[in-house]
Amino acid sequence: MTYALEIRNLVKNFGSLEVTRDVSFGVNKGERLALIGPNGAGKTTIFNLISGVYPVTSGQILIQGTDVTDVPSKERIAHGISRNFQNVRLMKHLTVVENLILDQHINASGVANMLQPFGMLRRHKWWKQAYEALEEARLIDYANETVDALPYGLRKRVDLVRALLADPKILLLDEPAAGLNPTETDELMRELKTVAQNGVTLLVVEHDMHFVRNLCERVVVLNFGEKVSEGTMAEVEKNPKVQAAYLGVEAEEQDNAA
Ligand SMILES: Nc1ncnc2c1ncn2[C@@H]1O[C@H](COP(=O)(O)OP(=O)(O)OP(=O)(O)O)[C@@H](O)[C@H]1O
Ligand SMILES: [Mg+2]
Repeated sequence: MTYALEIRNLVKNFGSLEVTRDVSFGVNKGERLALIGPNGAGKTTIFNLISGVYPVTSGQILIQGTDVTDVPSKERIAHGISRNFQNVRLMKHLTVVENLILDQHINASGVANMLQPFGMLRRHKWWKQAYEALEEARLIDYANETVDALPYGLRKRVDLVRALLADPKILLLDEPAAGLNPTETDELMRELKTVAQNGVTLLVVEHDMHFVRNLCERVVVLNFGEKVSEGTMAEVEKNPKVQAAYLGVEAEEQDNAA
């Protein structure tokens, strides 16, 4: 079966620094896959390669079997890729709803739109969609708040609404649970399960192992830019390389904190 998203032998060097080394994995449609590993392992870099922020040094990125390795970043949205950023990147001085509309403008400003400027109807549709999405996410009360007036947890929820408005087939989430309290984390987990049930493929980078265990069906483990393990959480946890690289460290930290 063709993967919704597949990366093949991905290599990224920054000068002499080898950040990802020959990383390959595939994600099935509607699957919830986690990419985990210690700080600096290359997780965000892989997201930047998939979304086209950086060109690859070598290797391939395929969406539904189509090679998009050389497709410019903006056009990857048309292939169904949407993402959040590890550090929320909303326009702080705009309101919540203005941020959502701005993003729709940016996503739509492809070649076709140079011929067909944004009409009233189209704008009206965006406002309607933005308000509906906020309503559904139970964020409607914040629609006209400026983003910098919102606490971090709410900003992250708005950023997820923004990413979902692009109607993605594949959603890349870099540390979506970071900075959220346990209630917000559980809510996010439930929401993402629904998103995946609707056929969206999820690739999630996350340090919160409770979150990964409960949300993701499969895990890929990176260490120093290399894939060291892949499987269910129960499978990868047993791998001594994973214990040494990551989960062992986590356990040690918890021991020290206790
Ligand atoms: N634009 C860049 N130029 C040079 N080096 C970079 C660049 N982006 C990332 N790196 C380096 O690549 C390595 C991997 O970084 P990356 O951000 O992908 O790690 P990560 O796994 O996401 O870590 P974290 O869990 O801390 O977010 C790090 O050593 C980082 O310093
Ligand atoms: Mg990162």
